Amino acid sequence: MTTYTWKQKVYNKRQHDVESGAPLRILGIETSCDETSAAVVENGRIIRSNIISSQIDSHKRFGGVVPEVASRHHVENITLIIEEALREAECTLDDIHGIAVTYGPGLVGALLVGVAAAKAISFARGIPLIGVHHIAGHIYANRFMEEFQFPLLALVVSGGHTELVYMTEHGTFEKIGETRDDAVGEAYDKVARSLHLPYPGGPHIDRLAQIGEGTVPLPRAWLEGTYDFSFSGLKSAVLNALNKANMKGETISPENLAASFQASVIEVLVEKTFRLIAERPVKQLLVAGGVAANKGLRQALTERAEKEGVSLVIPPLTLCTDNAAMIGAAGTIEYQKGNLADLSLNGVPGLSLFSR
Ligand code: KG4
Ligand code: ZN
Repeated sequence: MTTYTWKQKVYNKRQHDVESGAPLRILGIETSCDETSAAVVENGRIIRSNIISSQIDSHKRFGGVVPEVASRHHVENITLIIEEALREAECTLDDIHGIAVTYGPGLVGALLVGVAAAKAISFARGIPLIGVHHIAGHIYANRFMEEFQFPLLALVVSGGHTELVYMTEHGTFEKIGETRDDAVGEAYDKVARSLHLPYPGGPHIDRLAQIGEGTVPLPRAWLEGTYDFSFSGLKSAVLNALNKANMKGETISPENLAASFQASVIEVLVEKTFRLIAERPVKQLLVAGGVAANKGLRQALTERAEKEGVSLVIPPLTLCTDNAAMIGAAGTIEYQKGNLADLSLNGVPGLSLFSR
């Protein structure tokens, strides 16, 4: 009997699966922050299952994600979540062509749980292993809605990232602009905290903004001549407005402050995105990351895209925040390109989307 090394088994399996003509099924795994998630994605665009276990309730009382608590929850849940994802997709590991896992950026202890689980299954079953960048995943959540048309522009707005990313083909990403300080989601969460709203604060600010009026004058950071962003000045202006009111014994309506903050964020994001579209060929505008769930932003982008005849794609709310289906979708591309990882794959907290 021939004994094969893991590398040979993976090579043979990929060869066999590609030739078999069977639907390409990727198991996605995501544990970079406070969601434990596993999903089965078919041919890069069909979600067979997408199980998400949120730990938000465990972190809420601390006002943010506690890394050790996150890792512990991931360890407790990961096996069950993977089993459930396979069960709901009505398949077994025999039907899986590749295992795609987020290996950065994120909390190192949290990333390691997903990476270790993916490596263990890959090693035991000789299934190809694929390392996925978390933000590539957020961008590829859009592919469940519409097929990509290149060149395209992705506005990435998440808890840790704010970027304008240009793509001329699958799996390659060019950074056109980025935040110089806080990410949009981070600014939302900090402003929410100053208003004593629960973590994560983005959805609460969004909700208040819908009923408030933008009566508080707040700055807009244009950083003219660049496609970069800055949100820390805006965040400080909100805190100053609150402090000043406190010192004078006055109260600012949280609804109006939320509406004013949100108006400033949205105006800059939308305006800079469309300025770039006027300068470069763009067939499609994608929106990616947790803040893509923001009602005000979705509405403003939709109106502007209609006015300018730009094809806009925004994932539904469940696919905007962290989930493994998006990791499966981005992993499908890497699998098709033959960009497989080996068992030295490790969690990389500061992984860049652009240096590969
Ligand atoms: O994409 P994500 O899960 O985080 C990273 O990958 O970094 O996004 C989480 C962020 C949090 O900052 C959260 O407050 C924000 O997305 N968020 C929102 C909304 N829903 C989630 N921000 C504004 N409006 C929302 N509706
Ligand atoms: Zn995310």
